[in-house]
Amino acid sequence: MNILVTGGAGFIGSNFIYYELKKHPDDRIVCLDALTYAGNFDTLSAAMEHRNFRFVHGNIEDRRCVDKLFGEEHFDIAVNFAAESHVDRSVTNPETFLITNVLGTQVLMDACRKYGIKRFHQVSTDEVYGELPIDRTDLFFTEAAPLHASSPYSASKASADLFVLAYHRTYGLSVSISRCGNNYGPYQFPEKLIPLMITRALDDQPLPLYGKGDNVRDWLFVEDHCAAIDIIMRKGRSGEIYNVGGNNERSNIDVVRSILTALNKPETLITFVADRPGHDKRYAIDSNKVMTELHWRPNTKFDDGLSQTIKWYVDHEDWWQRILRDNYIK
Ligand code: NAD
Ligand code: DAU
Repeated sequence: MNILVTGGAGFIGSNFIYYELKKHPDDRIVCLDALTYAGNFDTLSAAMEHRNFRFVHGNIEDRRCVDKLFGEEHFDIAVNFAAESHVDRSVTNPETFLITNVLGTQVLMDACRKYGIKRFHQVSTDEVYGELPIDRTDLFFTEAAPLHASSPYSASKASADLFVLAYHRTYGLSVSISRCGNNYGPYQFPEKLIPLMITRALDDQPLPLYGKGDNVRDWLFVEDHCAAIDIIMRKGRSGEIYNVGGNNERSNIDVVRSILTALNKPETLITFVADRPGHDKRYAIDSNKVMTELHWRPNTKFDDGLSQTIKWYVDHEDWWQRILRDNYIK
C-alpha cells in the first residue's frame, strides 16, 4: 500500500506514522505537511531514516502541489490529519480554519477522484456534535447525533465532514470518517490542556483553568486512536462514520490534579481564569459501532497513559522547550 498522511508532523499524525511504520513496515508512507506553528519536523527525524518514508513540505489547499504529488505517487489511501486544531485559536482567527480544514479537505478529495484512490479517510472530532449536559451521564454521542458545532474550529470540521459525505454520494468517492474525543500522549503541542499543564507545572508556572474547571472530556491515549484509524481506513465500510472514544470521562480539574500529584507539585499552582467563549460542557462518545463492527478496543487505561505521557515530557524537555522558545520569538 502507498499511503498519504497529511499533517503528519503534528501530534496525532506523527504518532500515526510511527504506528504504521511499525505495524505495516512494507507499506510506503508519504507525509504532506505545511509545517505550521503546530508542525515539527524534529518529531519525524526517526521516520526519515526509514526506507519506506518520504516527507513533502506543502499545503493541502495548494491544488498544484497536491495534484503533482498524487501524480507522482499513485496513492492507495489518503488519510487527512492536516488541520488547524486548537479551539482557542479558532476564536481569535477563524479564517485559517476555513481555508485549511474545509478547502484543504476538498482539494485533497478532488485529487483522490482524479487519481482513482481506493479510500479517503477524514480524521474528524466529537466536537462536531456540540456538547452534552454535565448532569446527564446517561447521554452519549452516537454517529446519528445531529451536528451542532459550537466553535469556528468545530464548525470547520463539521463542514469538512459534510463535504466528505457529499463526495461519496455525488461522485462515489470511497470515504470514511472517524470522530474521536480528546487525545493525549507524546508529541502533543504544549497549548492543549494536558501538555500545557505538565510543562507549566514542571516550570512552576500558574496553571490556567477555564471557568470552574468542571468541563468534562473523554480522554483517549493517542496510540489507541491510531489503531482505530488504521482499522477504519483499511476495513471500515465506505461512506460510514465511526465514533472513537476512550470511555474515560474526566473533569478538567481532576485531570490537572492528577498531573500535580504525579509531579509532586502543589495545588496552589491552579489559577482559575475567564472561561473560553462558547465552551462546550461535556463530551462523551458511544464507540459501539467501531467496537462491534471492526473489533477495536481502547487498550491504555488513563492512569497508565497519563504516567507515560508525563514521563515523556519529563524526558523530552528539549522538544517542548524549543517549541516554547520558537513560539515566544514568533
Ligand atoms: P496538530 O495541530 O498537532 O497538527 C496539525 C498538523 O497539520 C501540523 O503538523 C500542521 O503543520 C499540519 N497542517 C496545518 N495546516 C496545514 C495545511 N494547510 N496543509 C498541510 N498541513 C497542515 O493537530 P492534532 O491534534 O494532531 O490533530 C490532527 C487531526 O485530528 C486534526 O484534523 C484534528 O481535527 C483531529 N482530532 C484531534 C484530536 C485531539 O485531541 N488532538 C481529537 C480528535 C480529532
Ligand atoms: O474532543 C476532541 C478535540 O479535543 C479535538 O478535536 C481538538 O483538536 C483538540 O484540541 C481538543 O479540543 P479541546 O478544546 O477539548 O482541547 P483543549 O486541550 O484545548 O482543552 C481541553 C479542556 O481544557 C477544555 O474544556 C478547555 C480546558 N482548558 C484548556 C486550556 C488550553 C483549560 O481549562 N485551560 C487551558 O489553558
